[in-house]
Amino acid sequence: MPQAPFPITRHRRLRATLQLRNLVREHELSVNDLIWPIFVRDGQGIEEPVASMPGVVRRSVDKIVEAAREAANLGIPAICLFPYTDASLKTQACEEAWNPDNLSNRAIRAIRDAGIEIAIMTDIALDPYNINGHDGIVRDGVIVNDETVEALVKMALAQAEAGADILGPSDMMDGRIGAIRRALEAEGHQNVTIMSYAAKFASAFYGPFRDAVGASGALKGDKFTYQIDPANRLAALACVERDLSEGADMVMVKPGLPYLDMVREVKDRFGAPTFAYQVSGEYAMIEAAAANGWIAGDKVMLESLMSFRRAGCDGVLTYFAPRVARILNG
Ligand code: PBG
Repeated sequence: MPQAPFPITRHRRLRATLQLRNLVREHELSVNDLIWPIFVRDGQGIEEPVASMPGVVRRSVDKIVEAAREAANLGIPAICLFPYTDASLKTQACEEAWNPDNLSNRAIRAIRDAGIEIAIMTDIALDPYNINGHDGIVRDGVIVNDETVEALVKMALAQAEAGADILGPSDMMDGRIGAIRRALEAEGHQNVTIMSYAAKFASAFYGPFRDAVGASGALKGDKFTYQIDPANRLAALACVERDLSEGADMVMVKPGLPYLDMVREVKDRFGAPTFAYQVSGEYAMIEAAAANGWIAGDKVMLESLMSFRRAGCDGVLTYFAPRVARILNG
């Protein structure tokens, strides 16, 4: 008989039964870790499929209220609103972004008026309102930083007035976190939180999202002059440090799975509440492979979300949120 080395390290002892595995599991995925991004459009009674994101729809405000209620009943702590803005409302100056009655602000009020207990997160960036499709104001082909920040501050205040709990600046302009935080303090919104899209990379994984919000048609060029080069790790850490020092309560890494190294590093280095966005392209890839019968969709979905937790995420923005919640709730 071959002799086993002694003492043999038998890692498999703790994997032998479900109970032992449950006992020694290091990380947990909970419904409390989920933020559900949802798309708002105008109209009444509408749920319109997004072609590149099977299972995801754009909802009119009444349906958004239903979705928020469903999410709250599932125990999901937060939803994140993204407006699909009609092309006729897109301008060079992006004024619709700070209209108190724009789609996003109407949706916030409707959810608040319905008394639904769920945190409402918003997106702060000009792309849904911009005739150029960019996150910032474009002058002579250049995305101008400081003028954009002024617009973003107006947008943030309108969202706070409407009743948003978490503001999500996703625009990547310099100085916007400090400017928004100062304005919130000055206008009596001391308790409105900011989750900065701090480590946001210029990614092709956002493709389906730009269809969902109707920005792909308008977008001229790419976003490399403001979003971070995917090759740059130190630049991303510098942005996180800067945004925390300017008053962000929480930070985000985006996209998710391909950037989990950044999640681990941000969490270890700064300790702040750290989130990642499992973006539209990541969702679409899992859905497409599952639809072809190439992978087991639900299992891959849950495994991908556990990976975010293992990497150090406190929570994840994911289009899968209600599906995950239903599974976790049993
Ligand atoms: C807009 C914004 C984008 C996403 C969230 N906010 C797209 C972009 O930066 O082009 C992407 C989300 C996703 O792909 O799911 N600033």
